[in-house]
Amino acid sequence: MSQYNVAFIGLGVMGYPMAGFLSRAGYATKVYNRTQAKAQQWAAEYQGQACETPAQAAENADIVFVCVGNDDDVRSVVYGENGILSALKPGAILVDHTTTSAELAVELGLAAQKQGNAFVDAPVSGGQAGAENGVLTIMCGGEQAVFDKVSPVMDVYAKQISLMGENGQGQRCKMVNQICIGGILQGLSEALLLAEKSGLNIEQVVETLKHGAAGSWQMENRAITMSQGQFDFGFAIDWMRKDLGFCLDEAKRVGLTLPLTQQVDQQYAELQQQGLGRMDTSVLIKAVAKDQ
Ligand SMILES: NC(=O)c1ccc[n+]([C@@H]2O[C@H](COP(=O)([O-])OP(=O)(O)OC[C@H]3O[C@@H](n4cnc5c(N)ncnc54)[C@H](OP(=O)(O)O)[C@@H]3O)[C@@H](O)[C@H]2O)c1
Repeated sequence: MSQYNVAFIGLGVMGYPMAGFLSRAGYATKVYNRTQAKAQQWAAEYQGQACETPAQAAENADIVFVCVGNDDDVRSVVYGENGILSALKPGAILVDHTTTSAELAVELGLAAQKQGNAFVDAPVSGGQAGAENGVLTIMCGGEQAVFDKVSPVMDVYAKQISLMGENGQGQRCKMVNQICIGGILQGLSEALLLAEKSGLNIEQVVETLKHGAAGSWQMENRAITMSQGQFDFGFAIDWMRKDLGFCLDEAKRVGLTLPLTQQVDQQYAELQQQGLGRMDTSVLIKAVAKDQ
């Protein structure tokens, strides 16, 4: 058995396999999920204990990981009498993998510190496949000594883990990531529409270009499905709009305008109104095509 007791709160698309990697690596793992059936299912699949509240899972843990939806979802599992903070033992570390605002990361850092605990904001990139294959990229905000303690544990589901600075800087790095994804998808949408209208074979185009200067994760993993009109998988627009909201707020805070990000966000808002909020972000091509 590995040296730390760990807990994982939030067994969604991302959290379920991430918690599984911890258990498989030999950490004594307790899990909590709002919908209890998912926690029971997890405990049937992996070694570990399903708990009825976040506090129960956090009790006696050295490190508690969270991966839920948005800022308020995180607050609802962290605070209150059944929340994680109420049960953390002195010196235990709270790690949040949820994509949230940088303000929440700073708030949680202060709340943890106040009661003798530490906090790391640790949003991830790599999607469902990255979580299931244990190859996520993790960008962290927190103190070096705390990062040094949690990093080898997170390594079981990551291929790249970096400390970007103090609490909040992990979330700000994730904003940079999301801005890049929005811009790449806008470019890829326009490029694929032109390729199609010009009579090019899309598979041949992707095979030819993917290792050149225009190659990207989105081109390798999404170009073919985009051209086939398949979007019922992957990273949902609903999550992306939350994330782009953080990007636009942060830009405002530092006195920048982000015209392409604003345009992409507006197109996603329109797609949401058409009921496509749970579709993968590559569905952006539909909005670009509609404008022609
Ligand atoms: N999916 C991706 O490709 C991806 C990639 C990078 C980052 N992220 C980020 O990772 C986070 C999780 O994404 P996901 O795709 O795993 O989401 P998901 O599949 O929708 O799962 C969300 C999880 O959070 C729990 N939850 C939500 N609100 C809650 C609340 N108020 N109280 C307690 N539990 C709550 C859900 O519980 P229930 O089961 O009860 O609903 C579920 O376990 C998000 O911040 C997302 O932006 C996702």
